[in-house]
Amino acid sequence: MTPLHNDTFLRALLRQPTDYTPLWLMRQAGRYLPEYRATRARAGNFMGLCTSPAMATEVTLQPLDRYPLDAAILFSDILTVPDAMGLGLYFAEGEGPKFERPLRDEAAIKALAVPDMHKLQYVFDVVSSIRTALNGRVPLIGFSGSPFTLACYMVEGAGSSDFARIKTLMYDRPELLHHILAINAEAVTTYLNEQIKAGAQAVQIFDSWGGALAYGKYQEFSLAYMQRIIDGLIREHDGRRVPVIVFTKGGGLWLEDIANTGCDAVGLDWTVDLADARRRVGAKVALQGNFDPVALMANPQAIESEVERLLASYGVGSGHVFNLGHGISQHTPPDHVTALVNAVHKHSRSYHTAV
Ligand code: CP3
Repeated sequence: MTPLHNDTFLRALLRQPTDYTPLWLMRQAGRYLPEYRATRARAGNFMGLCTSPAMATEVTLQPLDRYPLDAAILFSDILTVPDAMGLGLYFAEGEGPKFERPLRDEAAIKALAVPDMHKLQYVFDVVSSIRTALNGRVPLIGFSGSPFTLACYMVEGAGSSDFARIKTLMYDRPELLHHILAINAEAVTTYLNEQIKAGAQAVQIFDSWGGALAYGKYQEFSLAYMQRIIDGLIREHDGRRVPVIVFTKGGGLWLEDIANTGCDAVGLDWTVDLADARRRVGAKVALQGNFDPVALMANPQAIESEVERLLASYGVGSGHVFNLGHGISQHTPPDHVTALVNAVHKHSRSYHTAV
């Protein structure tokens, strides 16, 4: 395999010395970029984009061609896994993802099974294609949804503001939700391991909705299943550690628990103070985050001072990967992202004393 020209991101995840704080942005390839909208129009629809290695590779590289980001992320979606389970993913125009056959009764839940990974071969083909195109420029991140976050969409049938159906299921019939989560955990473990074998150099588990759970329920219904995944992942490939990042949006209260799963890094949303988070997790894990994506709408000077505040808060030394606290908004002006990336690279050098 081609040697990596820039491994700053992988080093920071392992808390090894770096010259500056690396950064990437959750959902960095997407609708805020006019070049993404043009490729998506050519693809016809979102899944057309995800299933075409050539077009998925093209959109993965678009943000890297504009900004000196320190990592690429596979272009795909977390909902490819339930789609492969036969739930029928579709994107209604302007409405976000939906399932034709959500899990609405016990029979549907009992019939759920780990999908044949051949159905997801298109994702692994995209991973190899991106690795070839990157040619060692920066590392490639693979990803999946957490078992609980996937179950939210599988049970609700779409996005939700209160997660009423899945939480009712959890309180009424906990054993049925545990059944879904066990299958999801097994599917995600195999799915991520196949991404790693195809060339993903780090993986992130997106637990976007774990933060909607009550104390105790988070540990039982989300964290325990991410733990199962982490226990089953390939941790070294091609002679290099493959770091695992766990991102629970709204998980700030449970940082110690998350850090204890054996992951290499914990993703933080903007509600968390980086200095406090660093004290709490100690030397156990690296931290990733946590710029408020809405702050990217503000003027470039405001963006720069917010970057300076976050860098100062984390403080001196390695172990911080700069990122947003959640995905970038489609309304973000692309030149504001330039201001963010430049500010991180410029101001972070003074916090690193790498020899
Ligand atoms: O980060 C990247 O650049 C890689 C691509 C990526 C996408 N989705 C592409 C996408 C990643 C990592 C995801 C993860 C994802 N998908 C999550 C977890 C992260 C998070 O934001 O919490 C979730 C919850 C989903 C489910 C999903 N897919 C939603 C809610 C939506 C609609 C929201 C939206 O922004 O429109 C999608 C569609 C989707 N996934 C788009 C993209 C670029 C927009 C589709 C389009 O082009 O119309």
